[in-house]
Amino acid sequence: MTRLAFFLSGTGGNALNLLQACREGRVPGEPVLAIASSARAAGLAKLEAEGLRGLVLERRAFDSDAAFSEACFAACAAAGVEVVCLAGWLKKLSIPRAWEGRILNIHPALLPKHGGPGMYGMHVHRAVLAAGETESGATVHLVDEVYDHGRILAQARVPVVAGEAPEALQQRVYAAEMALYPEALAAFLAGRDPDRDPDREGRP
Ligand code: GRF
Repeated sequence: MTRLAFFLSGTGGNALNLLQACREGRVPGEPVLAIASSARAAGLAKLEAEGLRGLVLERRAFDSDAAFSEACFAACAAAGVEVVCLAGWLKKLSIPRAWEGRILNIHPALLPKHGGPGMYGMHVHRAVLAAGETESGATVHLVDEVYDHGRILAQARVPVVAGEAPEALQQRVYAAEMALYPEALAAFLAGRDPDRDPDREGRP
């Protein structure tokens, strides 16, 4: 079973959903750690209440994105984590080489549209509506050094209703996320065979 960590900055809805999916056997992963970027991230207490080990690492305690990222991934390595799922994580990460291809994220739009710096939360849904899109959705992708840029693993589409409030669109997309992230993670883990992946040699 692949050992997982969740990184979160907010409510933790996606992380809790993934935890549940693992525990119900829908995702072949074993969550072992949750890292929150703020002590105020409401999701952390909920995950801890579910028995997951939680850790708060705040960006302001470090001099650089690189030092902050190093601390996050050092905690993962120490816990034997193999795959990281970003779940509402808002901090910039520098990805150590050993972790390339092993970090997933979910974004509340159909990337490559409506992603990038500043595109999070309601900003995304407002941008989708302002662009006159007829559909939106959610994207699960691998994480690289560029915001919302890595290889797309899966997408779910939802219709946009002309003239609707961004909050209404957000709810429809969020419901799609709840189905998409566990499915995409399960497929990713099933297709991942560390013993046959030459790139993985020497990785934690
Ligand atoms: C989700 O909409 C996700 O797509 C985005 O951040 C939000 C996190 O929500 N990356 P939650 O904290 O999982 O409820």
